[in-house]
Amino acid sequence: MKAHIIIDFSRCAGRKSKRLFGSFIEHVHQCVYPGIFDAKSHLADEDGFRKDVIEETKKLKPATIRWPGGNFSSWYRWKNGIGPKENRKTEISYADDIIREENHLFGTNEYIKFCRKTESTPYITVNAGDGTPREAAEWVEYCNYNGETLYSNLRRETGETRPFGVKYWEIGNEIYGDWQIGAKKASQYSRILVEFSKAMKRIDPSIKIVAVGMGKHDPDWDRIILDSAWNYIDGISVHTYIGRHGYLDAFGQVLTIADHLRKMEDDIIRISQQKQPKKIFLALSEFGVWYRKGHKDNLDEIYNLKDALVFASILNLLLRFCRSLEFTHQSMLVNCLGLLRTKQDGLVRQTIYYPFMLFSNLTGDMVLAPDVFCESFSCRDYRYFPWPTFDVKKDNFQMDESKIPLIHNLPYLDVSSTYDTKSGQLCVITVNRHPEKDINCKIELHNIKIKNYADAFVVNGPDVDAINDYDNERIKMEQYQEKVKTENLQWNFPAHSITAIKIQTRNQK
Ligand code: AHR
Repeated sequence: MKAHIIIDFSRCAGRKSKRLFGSFIEHVHQCVYPGIFDAKSHLADEDGFRKDVIEETKKLKPATIRWPGGNFSSWYRWKNGIGPKENRKTEISYADDIIREENHLFGTNEYIKFCRKTESTPYITVNAGDGTPREAAEWVEYCNYNGETLYSNLRRETGETRPFGVKYWEIGNEIYGDWQIGAKKASQYSRILVEFSKAMKRIDPSIKIVAVGMGKHDPDWDRIILDSAWNYIDGISVHTYIGRHGYLDAFGQVLTIADHLRKMEDDIIRISQQKQPKKIFLALSEFGVWYRKGHKDNLDEIYNLKDALVFASILNLLLRFCRSLEFTHQSMLVNCLGLLRTKQDGLVRQTIYYPFMLFSNLTGDMVLAPDVFCESFSCRDYRYFPWPTFDVKKDNFQMDESKIPLIHNLPYLDVSSTYDTKSGQLCVITVNRHPEKDINCKIELHNIKIKNYADAFVVNGPDVDAINDYDNERIKMEQYQEKVKTENLQWNFPAHSITAIKIQTRNQK
């Protein structure tokens, strides 16, 4: 199959946020314990963190790591997770339908240490379920205040004389949902959101406050929140999980994320017309591929190559929303829906590990708008299917698949391109979504002068169902270098593969 890409340096789609590609850790199932923190493990460092997980996370370079939840945050009392470990008491966690014990050994200090060890930035979700604005403000005091006060002194007693300087705070998690402890209507939430923001910003006015948005299903939620809390928030969040068993159908679902983000952008523009001008950013504060497993199955999704291709298509899409998206958090880092899976004596990089690593390491700050000409496919369009019913007993979504309409003209070759203004490097990331055919592609570079070589990184495996397991990494990344002489390149993208091409240019911006 043939294709043609035109990348024009003068066609800039926007600037990418430095914090665009982040991850998420939550105290559910095996994510934090023992995935990250397991003092008894022979693989743990002196502080109880899994060394292998830290090493891999450093390679993944998540910009921010959101914590402690998720559903878990709507119940979490942060004060039970600080101070000497021997004084921390085990409680029952109400994070979801499963009875779980929380020993509080991984609390605020441990989280900050984890961020330091992995060179990522903290992003905390406060308890807006059964928590209060005051508790949240005291958490800001513990983390960020430098005076001689109760909570800043408690931090000092742990040896942390300098404030942690946590800048990003999200007020609650999916607070619109019945499954959430302390679920609220939009009018109730928007009211307490203002109180949380007021109290927390009084302690530290430099923090950024992110509100819980919805982006879907209830058309009024976001507008009510934006309208009532406009002056008190800096951003608004949305969560989206996608994925399907059907190979092509899974790619069609990526458009769901586009729909949610576009709806939120529209709502922000509409409400802004009646307000004082300010930028409210979007945070896709949970996203991922999730369709096989429910909470009762430990959220233990084992990803295949198809899921990695879908995941890479999501990341391409996120770049296209660079004008409004400030943060995204892939959910989650370890074990539950994880980039990594761990067991007592080993770790495996899931298939989705590779696209995450490529995007977070290679994409530049200037997002370009390439033109792509290639053959397309049709698939089922899940976006406009009515909200499915959720069967609590089976922990499963029910829907009548036969009634779903088709969507057409989705290109087999999905492409993004960025340029890094510091290094002068151009990056092109392609996903060949064809299950059988290679794509032979002409890449024309306009207004770009290249130096003489390109580095290519190709993620692929034997077939789209292949997975990575502890004893067998079937999906791998290969790297090679090509000499390139002209600004018209000819490139072969193998069937069902992700390719990142990095080219040194002579351009300056
Ligand atoms: O990722 C698991 C759960 O999914 C999170 O706790 C919640 O925010 C979402 O519903």
